[in-house]
Amino acid sequence: MRILTFAILLVCASGVARAQQLPGDVVRGEVLADRLCAQCHDVEAGGTGRSAKGAPAFQTLADSRVLNTLSLRVLLPTPHRDMPDIILEDAQTDDVISYILDLR
Ligand code: HEC
Repeated sequence: MRILTFAILLVCASGVARAQQLPGDVVRGEVLADRLCAQCHDVEAGGTGRSAKGAPAFQTLADSRVLNTLSLRVLLPTPHRDMPDIILEDAQTDDVISYILDLR
């Protein structure tokens, strides 16, 4: 019985930890992704594969174990350097990152 209680506590604790790891707002991130990223990326949950423009689906990014908040922050500007439309404010970056990671 004690083990069960412990297991439940552990699950709850990891749930809280996971929620806190997301730096921004998932819903705002989804709106931003639809508006700014969907022309090149498949931004829908469950979508996979590269688009015609060679951009990886957000689900694929989410499924990649290597990606986390930090690596996304670093990666996000890299392929988009020449696209003035995709300069996001820090808070927007956090929101989009939260949306991507929440697809997990
Ligand atoms: C004009 C097209 C276009 C738009 C708009 C666009 N992307 Fe991309 N993105 C690409 C392409 C093409 C790649 C793949 C580059 C490569 O693999 O070298 C990419 C790659 C990425 C990567 C992966 C980087 C890596 O090295 O794995 C991330 C993360 C990303 N985009 C996020 C976003 C986000 C977030 C938005 C919206 C704010 C966005 N992109 C909007 C074209 C676009």
